[in-house]
Amino acid sequence: MSTETQVRQPRGSVPRFLEMKRDGEKIVALTAYDVLFAGLVEDARVDLILIGDSLGQVVLGYSSTIPVTMDEMIHHGKAVRRGAPETFLVLDMPFLSYQVSAEDALRNAGRVLKETGVQAVKLEGGTAATCKTVETLIRAGIPVMGHLGLTPQSVHALGGYRVQGREKVAAERLRAQAQALEEAGCFGLVLELIPAELAGEISRSLTIPTIGIGAGPECDGQVLVLYDALGLNPGFRPKFLKRFGELDAEVRKALGAYVSEVREGRYPGPEHSFSRDP
Ligand code: KIV
Repeated sequence: MSTETQVRQPRGSVPRFLEMKRDGEKIVALTAYDVLFAGLVEDARVDLILIGDSLGQVVLGYSSTIPVTMDEMIHHGKAVRRGAPETFLVLDMPFLSYQVSAEDALRNAGRVLKETGVQAVKLEGGTAATCKTVETLIRAGIPVMGHLGLTPQSVHALGGYRVQGREKVAAERLRAQAQALEEAGCFGLVLELIPAELAGEISRSLTIPTIGIGAGPECDGQVLVLYDALGLNPGFRPKFLKRFGELDAEVRKALGAYVSEVREGRYPGPEHSFSRDP
């Protein structure tokens, strides 16, 4: 493994997540993208960290997740692994790294596991072709998490970032796809932006855990984009999001204080300075 961190046995595991589902224990997940925040998230003892391709928007400034590359995902995956050596990590397969063919997906997912040291990959969608790809990865020993509902890599086909599965036919399709992904071997399933009742029905129908984001309280676990949960992204206020902190305001206050103190000659003071005589 080319990651420089010695990865210890993670606290989470595929059998453990299935056990948590069976016992009704909620699975707590967050995203992380860099070493410092990964360490903080690990210290909070979440069950799982997702290196989401949302990094395209919240770290790299793209307008969607579509431009994100394998190299960018691997770069951030390695950083998170170094910061969180004891947590079960799932890394998002970026757009076009798994849709071309199952063989291509296997090569890319294998590269992810070998180069970053994460334990699993996540991919979006529930078509027959996606299920075949999931089966190929599982046969190679790569744990796979599915992702249904709002699948951001298909934002243009879906017509925007909007709630999915409100109509009867769409809800039925999501139920069938969730079942198919479980049968293909996924160990868990992200449900994004779907009605809470539908998420509850899907969760009760599966033996694998569902991890919700904008999918109500009846999922088996929850995930949020870290910066949104911390209130670092002040312009982003969707209904499903609870901000557990207001870090944007805190950071602005600290930066303002630094700028004033340097301009006014108040920083650095004698206590921050070295003298010739130690
Ligand atoms: O990319 C991401 O962060 C995700 C979560 C929103 C589930 O897929």
